[in-house]
Amino acid sequence: MCGIVGYVGPRVAAPILLEGLRRLEYRGYDSAGLAIQATNGLEVVRSVGKLDNLSRALEGRSLLGTVGIGHTRWATHGRPSEPNAHPLVSGDVAVVHNGIIENHVALRRRLEAEGVVFKSDTDSEILAHLVHRALERGASLFEAVKATLGFLQGTYGIAVLAGRQPDRIVVAKNASPLVIGLGEGETLCGSDIPALLGHTRQMLFLEDGELAELTTGGARVETLEGQLVSRAPRRIDWSPTQAEKSGFKHFMLKEIFEQPRAVEDTLRGRIRVAAGEIEGAELGLDPAFIDNIDRVYFLACGTSYHATIAGRYWIEQLARLPAQTEIASEVRLRSPVFTPRDLVVAVSQSGETVDTLAAVRTAREAGAYVLAIANVVDSMIPRASNGALYTHAGPEIGVASTKCFTTQLVALLLLAIHLGRRRGVLDASSTASALEALMAVPSLMRRSLERSDEAYEVARRWHNARHMLFLGRGLGYPIALEGALKLKEISYAHAEGYAAGEMKHGPIALIDDEMPVVVVMPHDRHYEKTLANVQEVRARDGRVIAVVSESDQVASTLAEQVLRIPDAPELVQPLLSVIPLQLLAYYFADLKGTDVDQPRNLAKVVTVE
Ligand code: AGP
Repeated sequence: MCGIVGYVGPRVAAPILLEGLRRLEYRGYDSAGLAIQATNGLEVVRSVGKLDNLSRALEGRSLLGTVGIGHTRWATHGRPSEPNAHPLVSGDVAVVHNGIIENHVALRRRLEAEGVVFKSDTDSEILAHLVHRALERGASLFEAVKATLGFLQGTYGIAVLAGRQPDRIVVAKNASPLVIGLGEGETLCGSDIPALLGHTRQMLFLEDGELAELTTGGARVETLEGQLVSRAPRRIDWSPTQAEKSGFKHFMLKEIFEQPRAVEDTLRGRIRVAAGEIEGAELGLDPAFIDNIDRVYFLACGTSYHATIAGRYWIEQLARLPAQTEIASEVRLRSPVFTPRDLVVAVSQSGETVDTLAAVRTAREAGAYVLAIANVVDSMIPRASNGALYTHAGPEIGVASTKCFTTQLVALLLLAIHLGRRRGVLDASSTASALEALMAVPSLMRRSLERSDEAYEVARRWHNARHMLFLGRGLGYPIALEGALKLKEISYAHAEGYAAGEMKHGPIALIDDEMPVVVVMPHDRHYEKTLANVQEVRARDGRVIAVVSESDQVASTLAEQVLRIPDAPELVQPLLSVIPLQLLAYYFADLKGTDVDQPRNLAKVVTVE
């Protein structure tokens, strides 16, 4: 989730690129840079931090070139720093890249063995070197980029410049978006439409496996196999604000719909399904330590805390290790007992939550090994930890966490499978089936999202309700908690999440004919027991809304309304059952007219106690 922009035309490129990047800052903002074709070669300017720092770095420099590329970064491989900022350079080649090159380690080793010196820790720099080498052998820029793409596994949206062909940009796409803007005597490119809207509304959307050469005369598009592509441009009438949200009404809704892609990015490069293995090195965990773990101790707040409850269940089930999860703010108040044989897992999307950070420091002081699971690379919590496992969900703008939650779940499940395998609890075949189930999640999520109208109907029916109860058992329990938190955060309705087995111990007193009760009950080993809860709610005239598997025949007839999720192995069900609850909270709040993306009293990053 970074932003790319490029320009070829008669105008001075730098201000156009800077303005484009400003419109893309929501995609990433930890560093930024430009490369401009100048009369004496490429001029490259990069800086760490927000775009204002790049503007300042450009002040006083007269960059008059009319061809250039720019990038705003959201770090995945390599911390935010000037050497890791894009464009990445090799000789007279400059490259900006979105996506993840999965085989970058192998490619890097090969080039290093041949004497290539790398200046960054990024996976992207490999692109600059490969293009440069192909140019040195006499290829055109277009051919050099095409040859380079043949070496790559992974995802990319790229834009490439070379000093020896200064009148053009070559762009290519695989899974990461790349749009070409066709203007009058000028051609632009960007990772997203907002970057281009100020200049043209005629957009050509590159497809996976295509590359294009951009000049002042327009774009020539080819497939990787060399077939010429002729595709009519589309006129885009979105306003810049609509475009930032890809046409969605709110960032939160956009982020809910981004989850299949986000999960793919969390998994990318970390799994070898055929071998039934996880790439241990990618998990930020010292292999020597794994065999000595006595206990896994999770620390987190809010939504991240809910993810750790599922994490705990998975660790117990798959790795057969004692596991507990604690709200970080409570741990600080107690005298927790940590030992050097504890694996402490601190989960935080922002990586900055002050209570989690303080608890991490306490655990480290006691000699525990701390692994951070975070979305923001090189943020405080990963820095204070021994290792980090990043979720790669891209920036989350909506205050209510959605895609960060599901990618945390994926990271936690990967961790549990990895520990289970290393410790001999899982054999190759059970590991492979767990990994297959995980790999199927993105497409099952897409199917779940296709049913958004069911969540809308429930929201329409209940958006004036003042209270709502959410129940779930096993892996459904953290999802019930999360469903309730989402609803209260953005709609301000009072919502409580409960373990379904606890219902009789108190919340049952709340049930009457005005109490909507959401029961998370896909087909799992607890189904019959949860069904009994449904009967108990009905017996007290409560109104049941059941989250059920697509093939459900029983609960769906007892419930007043149903939210269906695709049938899936129990292990991955939480990744699916949370989706209708996120959508329910969203539509409920939107129908009430609250400020969905910035709900009252809440902050995206909680840096106060
Ligand atoms: C989630 O919707 C909330 N905004 C909040 O509970 C959040 O999860 C919590 O503040 C923890 O944040 P973190 O993941 O950045 O540590």
